[in-house]
Amino acid sequence: MKSFVVLISGRGSNLQAIYDAVTSGVITARIAAVISNRADAEGLSIARAAQIPEIIIPAQPGQSREQYDSALIAQIDALQADFIVLAGFMRILSDAFITHFAGRILNIHPSLLPAFKGLDTHRRALAAGCSKHGASVHFVSAELDSGAIVLQAEVEVKPDDDENSLAERVLKTEHVIYPMVIQWYVEGRLMFRDQQLYFDHTPLTEACQWKNQKLVLPQN
Ligand code: GRF
Repeated sequence: MKSFVVLISGRGSNLQAIYDAVTSGVITARIAAVISNRADAEGLSIARAAQIPEIIIPAQPGQSREQYDSALIAQIDALQADFIVLAGFMRILSDAFITHFAGRILNIHPSLLPAFKGLDTHRRALAAGCSKHGASVHFVSAELDSGAIVLQAEVEVKPDDDENSLAERVLKTEHVIYPMVIQWYVEGRLMFRDQQLYFDHTPLTEACQWKNQKLVLPQN
């Protein structure tokens, strides 16, 4: 059985959704460990309750990104994890880390990428007057929030939305689409090789969409 690590820095609601998918058999892989850069990450309590090993790797004063990431690489390699799931891990990863795990790092971002890379996506989507917003699951590449997009879930922006209500609606879809993509990866249906995304061994030229609770595959 494949195994993966989940990297978190905060609340861990995606970790919870992923763990629930593992326990219910929707994801047929094992969580080898939950790794956090913050000892106070709320999500660590989920790992504890689930008896998943938790590993805390705090940044040391004066440590470079490369030094931090080589400690992270060493931990993940020691666990012999097949792939890495970023779930609210609030550190930028070095090129060395991304190259080491090329095609084996997934992330979820709370926007319809390429719109609103970076932080405060819900606030920015509201300020821009968007009528649609959402979440994207993507492979991680060297440039922040710019890797190949696998699946996007669109949500409607309602006239009376504030940042919290919109964030909550987006988060609900995150909890649906992230486990789904993880399982595609586990089953070998999803691959990212030589800068090309493959779904069922066919090159994917556009992202898949999750719309009205249904999966829409691109017409290649
Ligand atoms: C989510 O909004 C996710 O899209 C982003 O970070 C947040 C993590 O939330 N990458 P949680 O810790 O999973 O609740």
